[in-house]
Amino acid sequence: PRLRVLDDADTVATAAAMMIAGHVAGSGRPVIGLATGRTPLAIYARLVAAARDRRADFSRTTSFNLDEYRGLGPEHTASFAAYMRRNLFDHVAMGETHMPAGLGNAEAEASSYEAAIARAGGIGLQLLGIGRNGHIAFNEPGARFDSRTRVVRLAEETRAANAPDFPEGEAVPGEAMTMGIGTILEARRILLVATGAAKRAALARAVAGPPDATCPASALLLHPHVTILCDREAAADLG
Ligand code: F6R
Repeated sequence: PRLRVLDDADTVATAAAMMIAGHVAGSGRPVIGLATGRTPLAIYARLVAAARDRRADFSRTTSFNLDEYRGLGPEHTASFAAYMRRNLFDHVAMGETHMPAGLGNAEAEASSYEAAIARAGGIGLQLLGIGRNGHIAFNEPGARFDSRTRVVRLAEETRAANAPDFPEGEAVPGEAMTMGIGTILEARRILLVATGAAKRAALARAVAGPPDATCPASALLLHPHVTILCDREAAADLG
């Protein structure tokens, strides 16, 4: 991968937003893959500002998000659908947006999500964060590198990390619908962002290789066009 270590999380967000906006500006019918979580918030804030100032135009862009909790409808405040509206879609005119299904028949929804990605011509640029346990999307350690969109069980540490997003007293769902590692690896370009000391071990394992299912992010070593943007804190364990 092309690895860039930048000073801090703000600089990482600026560089990531520029890369996404550049991809969108350079494609006739851009198709981007989007992530949720804390890391992309500053990126989306910059994309919202760029669209507001007419430095970026997403009106021809199609997006596909990585994952969604099972059991949560799009109106649930902790759903990733609600997160995307709050942080991007309510503020930027998008072409088409797609979210994996929180409700409905899992198998039918998973295969129609894969079909929608294919119909759009595949994902041109996929944005990824990384979990403390090395997960990408909700592909937890042990997930197969050829996995496709499906329902998975969340690791306890992932549920604990995301508990603050839920209303007091409400449990984090045990399952999610996620793009598979195989789905992600079909994106033509991948941008992984990692900031903060909590990510240092996961990032070091992902970059050191060899690709191994115990660290899902290490699958990215098998992809020819991966850029990793991280801050100094996340890079602290890199050799
Ligand atoms: C989010 C996702 C997750 C996060 C990861 C890091 O759609 O698929 O893999 O990217 O859990 O989350 P943050 O950025 O909150 O540390």
